[in-house]
Amino acid sequence: MKAVQCTKYGAPEVLKLIEMEIPVPKEDELLVRIHATAVNSGDVRIRKADPWAVRLFFGFKRPKQAVLGGVFSGEVMAVGTSVKNYRVGDCVFGTTGMTFGTYAEYRSVKETAAIALKPESLSHTEAAIIPFGALTALHFIRKAKVGSGQKVLIYGASGAVGSAAVQLVKYYGAEVTAVCSGRNRELMHRIGADQVLNYQSEELALNREKYDVVYETVNKWSYAESLKHVRKGGTLILGAADFSKMILAGVSNLSGKKVLTGVSKESALEMKWMKELIDEGQFTPVLDRVFSLDEIVEAHQYVDAGHKRGNVAVQVIR
Ligand SMILES: NC(=O)c1ccc[n+]([C@@H]2O[C@H](COP(=O)([O-])OP(=O)(O)OC[C@H]3O[C@@H](n4cnc5c(N)ncnc54)[C@H](OP(=O)(O)O)[C@@H]3O)[C@@H](O)[C@H]2O)c1
Repeated sequence: MKAVQCTKYGAPEVLKLIEMEIPVPKEDELLVRIHATAVNSGDVRIRKADPWAVRLFFGFKRPKQAVLGGVFSGEVMAVGTSVKNYRVGDCVFGTTGMTFGTYAEYRSVKETAAIALKPESLSHTEAAIIPFGALTALHFIRKAKVGSGQKVLIYGASGAVGSAAVQLVKYYGAEVTAVCSGRNRELMHRIGADQVLNYQSEELALNREKYDVVYETVNKWSYAESLKHVRKGGTLILGAADFSKMILAGVSNLSGKKVLTGVSKESALEMKWMKELIDEGQFTPVLDRVFSLDEIVEAHQYVDAGHKRGNVAVQVIR
């Protein structure tokens, strides 16, 4: 099968298209023919070893799991002997999380992994871009107990995590203020934002509003500024905190405001919940550009620039 290998840490050109053996599913696994995957900020961080500590967890000189890509949508081609809930021919979507391996034509995944049946209303390309942003946003939004009547500000609202957060916060009944650049204003209203503030104009600087929850998704806003906008007793979510912000977060819990950081967790339960939300028409994929597997270097270059709108998909089968 065709797959993309990350030969060392570095620029997008370290990604090389190679031939590999098709995996053989174990007794509790499904073999999925991947129709589509995505290039997410997580893949880019591993490829670049950014932050440097990536090397401590994923391999000192190069990623030990050389095939990156953490999301997929595809068709079940074979099932192991103990698999009960999926059959050959089912269309599934999901995430392999930190074990990666979806920049490939096939991937074996455990039946109990964070997967679900693909919503019929979505193409594989649309389904593949759901898990990364949605499961991350869902983790933090639930942890912050976002609910009806609350005011929530989402900073970096036009990214994969941000655009999912806007929709999920609306679903939970809160009022959303989305912060993005001017060119994404219309997109924000389309996916449900009540107010939009352009971070490139004075709109954000002049805003004096306090929020029940501030969700900083992209680590581009100063810690002091983001905390300032949280009301007393409210919650700041630092979805992409660096080391220094993590230390500040520990101290700030003394300020009467809660600060949440850390790594999101994903499971089959949340994937199935997302499928239902999509089936009910309450969540929609935000797709920016589509590349082919042969164009993986260009796809990473595009994501590296840091201004994608929502998500970038990769079609494995054209
Ligand atoms: N904690 C966890 O478990 C976890 C899980 C997943 C991801 N993450 C982290 O979350 C972060 C965001 O991920 P993502 O995939 O959503 O990122 P992304 O999609 O790559 O973010 C791109 C978006 O960021 C916006 N942006 C760029 N500069 C900005 C600025 N100065 N102010 C406001 N917005 C700005 C861009 O909008 P404009 O074009 O309008 O500037 C663009 O739409 C990443 O650092 C990722 O590593 C953490």
